[in-house]
Amino acid sequence: MFSKIAGTGSCFPKKILTNKDFENMVDTSDEWIVSRTGIKERRVVNGESTLDLAYEASLKALESAGLKSNQIDGIVCASITQDTIMPSLSCSLQAQLGIGGKSFAYDVIAACSGFIYAAANADSLIKTGIAKKILVVGAERLSVVTDYTDRSTCVLFGDGAGAVILEASNTPGFIGFDLVADGSISDLLTLESLGTKLFENKEKYDIKNNLIKMKGNELFKIATKAMMRTSKKVLEKNSLTLKDIDYIIPHQANIRIIEMLAKMLKFPLDNVIITIDRYGNTSAASIPSTIDVAIEEKRIKKGDKILITSFGGGITWGAACFVL
Ligand code: UT7
Repeated sequence: MFSKIAGTGSCFPKKILTNKDFENMVDTSDEWIVSRTGIKERRVVNGESTLDLAYEASLKALESAGLKSNQIDGIVCASITQDTIMPSLSCSLQAQLGIGGKSFAYDVIAACSGFIYAAANADSLIKTGIAKKILVVGAERLSVVTDYTDRSTCVLFGDGAGAVILEASNTPGFIGFDLVADGSISDLLTLESLGTKLFENKEKYDIKNNLIKMKGNELFKIATKAMMRTSKKVLEKNSLTLKDIDYIIPHQANIRIIEMLAKMLKFPLDNVIITIDRYGNTSAASIPSTIDVAIEEKRIKKGDKILITSFGGGITWGAACFVL
């Protein structure tokens, strides 16, 4: 028994923030941002909630799978920017889809690795017979937790959502996963404003100083090696080599990380799917939305063997391979 992608969808808000816009906000330049990150523009919400983005992406995924929402057994959402902690994004999405009481629904928090972690969860639930069809979503509105006075982070992040329907199948499907975390280096990338820690002293509650903080340069060095190792490991564990892989879809954090990863894996950059130039880093939404965009643009097609790999806050990382 395998879990197979039966449909995909994505949603990006209409509002575009260009590098030029940032030149008016902080001490930066289009040249610096493009050359150091590969980002030209990113989308940001203009009134939309994380749920709105997740809902639109989910509707598209359901449509592309030819399914009605009441045919779904469960929802697993990955996000670090849920509109509310309780209800979870998944429960709110379930209600919005009109299937309250008819499926399970829960969130996974693994930052940029959230989609891979959530897909591993859903894959296991399908393999163990607990569910047959699961909606897996990565959705973020990072713009609300971004510090727009910090030039080293604000230019990186964007909002968006990606969704896939995983369905029980006799043929692959997901072949394997490798999941890793190292909480001992969590200070490299933090977002404390959504945790209860901040409420311990309500009088001194201070959102502004608890937005996304990142030690980008240190993270950069660890990210590339971690994604290289986890990619190799998931292939090895499943008796595959990079020669078996048609495309790599990496987390879209920085074009230089992506290029270095391809170089270290000796994998042709032409077969690495890149959307960071248009959408920036959308954390848990980055991989599922890139899968959907690549399908829509006919870059990847049914039968392709794809490796996905990610690295993010926690610190978390991981990889998975699947046949589309
Ligand atoms: O998605 C989760 C995982 N995320 C990552 O793995 C991100 C990893 N890190 C990165 O992508 C990169 O480290 C950044 C894009 C965040 C930064 O690039 P960098 O090449 O590592 O730059 P840096 O932090 O070493 O900074 C170099 C210089 C500094 O100036 P000084 O100290 O040399 O004078 C920064 O202040 O660049 C400066 N700088 C900027 N200059 C213009 C930092 N941000 C900017 C900016 N515009 N936006």
